[in-house]
Amino acid sequence: MLSGKNILLGITGGIAAYKTTFLVRLLIKAGANVKVILTDSASSFVSPLTLATLSKNPVVSSFVANDEAGTSWNNHVEMGLWADLMIIAPATANTLSKMAYGSCDNLLMATYLSAKCPVFFAPAMDLDMYKHPSTQTSFDKLLSFGNLMIPVGSGELASGLHGEGRMAEPEDIVAFIKQFLHNGLPLEGKKVLITAGPTYEAIDPVRFIGNHSSGKMGFELAKAAANSGATVILISGPTHLHLEHDHIKLVKVTSAEEMYTAVHHYYGAVDIAIGAAAVADYKPKTVAVQKIKKNDAEFQIELVKTKDILYSLGQEKKHQFLVGFALETENEVENASKKLKKKNLDLIVLNSLNDTGAGFGKSTNKITIIDKNLDIKTFELKTKADVALDIINEIILKINV
Ligand code: C5P
Repeated sequence: MLSGKNILLGITGGIAAYKTTFLVRLLIKAGANVKVILTDSASSFVSPLTLATLSKNPVVSSFVANDEAGTSWNNHVEMGLWADLMIIAPATANTLSKMAYGSCDNLLMATYLSAKCPVFFAPAMDLDMYKHPSTQTSFDKLLSFGNLMIPVGSGELASGLHGEGRMAEPEDIVAFIKQFLHNGLPLEGKKVLITAGPTYEAIDPVRFIGNHSSGKMGFELAKAAANSGATVILISGPTHLHLEHDHIKLVKVTSAEEMYTAVHHYYGAVDIAIGAAAVADYKPKTVAVQKIKKNDAEFQIELVKTKDILYSLGQEKKHQFLVGFALETENEVENASKKLKKKNLDLIVLNSLNDTGAGFGKSTNKITIIDKNLDIKTFELKTKADVALDIINEIILKINV
């Protein structure tokens, strides 16, 4: 699968750089043509001569070529276009941040910015650096550009600490790339519709009935689906969340009625629809044209039911795979299973308010997934980003059966 492929390996300055000699060896053995770019600090960890010998190509690290006359240069644009694949391994926090923000202060970065091929990056750093929000932001940004992250391992780190942050082993890097070349991304070519956030139901021009949904679960689902290759339409009620992703179209709505209209506009063309929004169940029967005055001691608002968006999607379902959420406080599995049948869903994600840390406004969630055959899978308490990955992976498993 790698035979004849032009692979550009960018090595940055982490101790895991010593492992890249094995990586180059594996790539060459698999029949690939390999060229190596080192950053300045990488050459303290691994010898250019070793890499040049193993890759059978000169190893470069600066714009000026090492010829006698000193008149030629290493053309980053040419190298970027030569590559069928680019791998940055180890990818340090510093280089990841530069990739995320387009800083271009060395040959590797200029080549990265010139490359049009798939770019894989294998992070390697200490556990706290790995967990730091700015590193996580770099990952998010790079994934949103379509770059592919080779997951880190967990274990003893160069610092002597134990935890996440080890660069994937060379064999695992090669296996990851082969898997990508073989299958592409699991949701490649698929369109996914996701609802997120609360809805606001107007009482008068300044007041509304709403709820505390943050929209985070739906936004994380959108990212996880897009990073798995899907094109995503994210229809969200009012939230403070921001999102920029090349494969996510964000459609902002306010009320349940607006969400209903937007969802039905896109539904026919999608393969998967996920209802993660906390849609209001009732709305004021009439909306006052002027601000309501506080004249009386008591005040009543007559409410009418909103349309159940997910139910309507279940009724119209043709080829779509339909996923809903259920937030239950009692007889959870039984109630969620009933909802799954009633709304004609393929999967329902149950989060129980009985679990501490789960649900509304929190950054973590604990879910149970129930499928059409009422098979049940329970998951640990996790961040919403990890929960989103579990849900998307479960959907991928089901649609591939
Ligand atoms: O029936 P219940 O509101 O408990 O179901 C929750 C599920 O239905 C969620 O997936 C939610 O997004 C969806 N829903 C909807 N439209 C409504 C109410 C709920 O799509 N009006």
